[in-house]
Amino acid sequence: MHASIAFSAVLAFIATAVSAAPASFAATDCNPSYDVASSTPCFTACNVVAGQEWVPGWTMDSTSALFIPSLTLMCTKTAPEYRSFMTKAGTCMAQCTADDPELFNTEFAGACAWWSTHKNDTCSA
Ligand SMILES: *[C@@H]1O[C@H](CO)[C@@H](O)[C@H](O)[C@H]1NC(C)=O
Repeated sequence: MHASIAFSAVLAFIATAVSAAPASFAATDCNPSYDVASSTPCFTACNVVAGQEWVPGWTMDSTSALFIPSLTLMCTKTAPEYRSFMTKAGTCMAQCTADDPELFNTEFAGACAWWSTHKNDTCSA
């Protein structure tokens, strides 16, 4: 069948293209307009761990299709899970004693400001 042969060829091409891409180049680039500086690895790890409960795969990787769902959890203050998420993340962040909390406050404010105008975006990749 021509259709299935062509489809296999496309898959093979994509597999080749992906494996040939440099490691720093993601296969998808959702949210190219996101330009907020990340805080620290310790703060980010706390959010990643806390977020999994509500958004499996929770990420601050703006190139990911899960980025907007992740920010929706972090930025929707009226959602029932918001308080639980922030409590869990905040309790963890208190252990990041070497890091200035202001760095996360700045990232949080910037990320949620970006999210408020991009929350309905879909990843075109
Ligand atoms: C996102 O979609 C909702 C529901 O359609 C709408 O009420 C809201 O204004 C939209 N927000 C933005 C930033 O486009």
